[in-house]
Amino acid sequence: MSSIEHKQQQVETLMRLAPVIPVVIIDNARDAVPMARALVAGGIPTIEVTLRTPAALDAIRAIAAEVEGAVVGAGTVLTIRDLEAARQAGARFAVSPGVSPKLLDAVDDSDVPLLPGAATASEVMTLLERGYRFLKFFPAVPAGGTKLLGAWASPLPQVRFCPTGGISLASAPDFLALPNVLCVGGSWLTPADKLAAGDWAGVELLAREAAGLRKV
Ligand code: 3PG
Repeated sequence: MSSIEHKQQQVETLMRLAPVIPVVIIDNARDAVPMARALVAGGIPTIEVTLRTPAALDAIRAIAAEVEGAVVGAGTVLTIRDLEAARQAGARFAVSPGVSPKLLDAVDDSDVPLLPGAATASEVMTLLERGYRFLKFFPAVPAGGTKLLGAWASPLPQVRFCPTGGISLASAPDFLALPNVLCVGGSWLTPADKLAAGDWAGVELLAREAAGLRKV
């Protein structure tokens, strides 16, 4: 198994690949490959497929096997079982909405890097103690948005965030302008109606707009 520091470096690398990590809820695994190709073509290589649907693991498996240039991970990883299923499907990383001691122990024993969620300073401190400094800030807007992140920059300067939850193309620049934000996450790149319609050109366009956001 790799060290927590090595896994954190892997998380930092994928957070820096593009300004946005799309958060995907997929109902049909057959949509996975064309959707991922559209995201990559639009300039968005890192893709989080949430383990919220029965199709998710097959979707991760297909993207990992077939989509060149994609870095696919599993989102909504809540349990040791989720982490192991994601690893077996070929997920290159895992994302969790929060953390539990059991999940962190499992990550310590695994090669899959975790981007763990935190919404309070105490959760951030707990994760720092466990060796994590690249975190998801979730749910970003309901938990306090740019104001809360801005307030953390001074007392928690070593932490870098991927805020996720309630962010749009319009509000992403405000988050990306913060010194402690490397990228944002959001589901707006892969809306259910575009997936249902197989509108891959539309997904590519949304990806292109997102890729054009700049970390300032
Ligand atoms: C989620 O929980 O689905 C993610 O945080 C994405 O949130 P969003 O739909 O508000 O972008």
